[in-house]
Amino acid sequence: MAPERHDSAPDPSPPHNTAIATAEPPRKQRPRKIGRRHLVTRAATGLATLGALASGAAAVVAATRPVAAQGATAGPQHNTTGGHLGNHQGLIPPPQGALTNAIVAHDHGVQMTVGDVDTAAMGYDPTTYLTTFDYGTASTLPDGRTLRDYRIIAADKEIEIAPGIFFPAWTYNGQVPGPTIRCNEGDRLRINFTNNGSHPHTIHFHGIHSSFMDGVTGIGRGNINPGESFTYEFDARPFGCHLYHCHSTPLKRHIHKGLYGAFIINPDPAKHGNAAKERHPDHAESRRWQEFVMIMNAFDTTFDGANEVYAVNTVAFHYMKHPIRVERDRPVRVYLINMTEFDPINSFHLHANFFDYYDHGTTLEPTLRTVDTIMQCQAQRGILEFSFAGFEPGLYMFHAHQSEFPELGWMSAFEVV
Ligand code: CU
Ligand code: CU
Repeated sequence: MAPERHDSAPDPSPPHNTAIATAEPPRKQRPRKIGRRHLVTRAATGLATLGALASGAAAVVAATRPVAAQGATAGPQHNTTGGHLGNHQGLIPPPQGALTNAIVAHDHGVQMTVGDVDTAAMGYDPTTYLTTFDYGTASTLPDGRTLRDYRIIAADKEIEIAPGIFFPAWTYNGQVPGPTIRCNEGDRLRINFTNNGSHPHTIHFHGIHSSFMDGVTGIGRGNINPGESFTYEFDARPFGCHLYHCHSTPLKRHIHKGLYGAFIINPDPAKHGNAAKERHPDHAESRRWQEFVMIMNAFDTTFDGANEVYAVNTVAFHYMKHPIRVERDRPVRVYLINMTEFDPINSFHLHANFFDYYDHGTTLEPTLRTVDTIMQCQAQRGILEFSFAGFEPGLYMFHAHQSEFPELGWMSAFEVV
């Protein structure tokens, strides 16, 4: 079961684990200009969270920011701590025993946030997200093809990315990542987009389509201004593991704020043969697979152009506190996408196992075989396939292998049963 302990029981882990928050030097050594702060804390658990993340934002801010300047730069804060970070309790590392010990048996499993985010209040649960696919509203065109209508609304929304740490996101349909748009190769897609946000946005799909439908500033329909709507329309091709994101300028801001999602096109068995049936939900061959969507992302909570919190599917350490349940004798397929801004590369490493990898998901033969680590630049993506058949049941970690990232949230586990 997913151990979920965040009480004050004595810490049974080796002593070196509880000292991480104090022993870790600040991640960013150079002084930074801290602009408007949006890293706010709302709960006692959040204070400890900041301590646990001391190698990230909090320690750096404490080390580099003149306290006197904070009130003047705080801007329109959400509440609570704005302007008082310099002497904030959150900068003090948590006492021994305060760290969550969801997975204590492993040598780097203990460093983690305390408590849990309020997924109900946020209206987004990373566990549900893994297996939720939006096939739109399907109808049949006169030529017999399938037409799928999707509705995407951009809106500003504050999301909780770690217990007590809120981020002022720009969202598609109120969540980060946006909904996973899925369809079959050759379908006609209509994406009805409305911008209810405070800035111009677009939806730029990775796929094959006309210039007019490319969803970038200054080309074709271009920016969709606040209050406007536009319908993107194109055919679904090529099959694979793709993505969509806002392509308004400045691009790094529109991506980093949360405007991205997965776009999966199932291969057509009529064109590509039986192997395509394994990836196509209309065919029985696909049903043994356990499929999950994972978007590697990160958040710059201090708006200084570098990330403090890393995750898969937004919430730091979520799948450590709620390991992803996998049936041992059924194969696993992960649609993996990197949408991390600021850091040029992210990576995925699976413990105690190896996988086959299909770069971009656009082939039915692996492009890499028997690897346990892959890296992706931003927008790069692929499909991972592996199996725990014959393995001992238990918890199997997966995480970025830039060691800094797992320590700041990109640490996860499968629970093999
Ligand atoms: Cu945008
Ligand atoms: Cu892109």
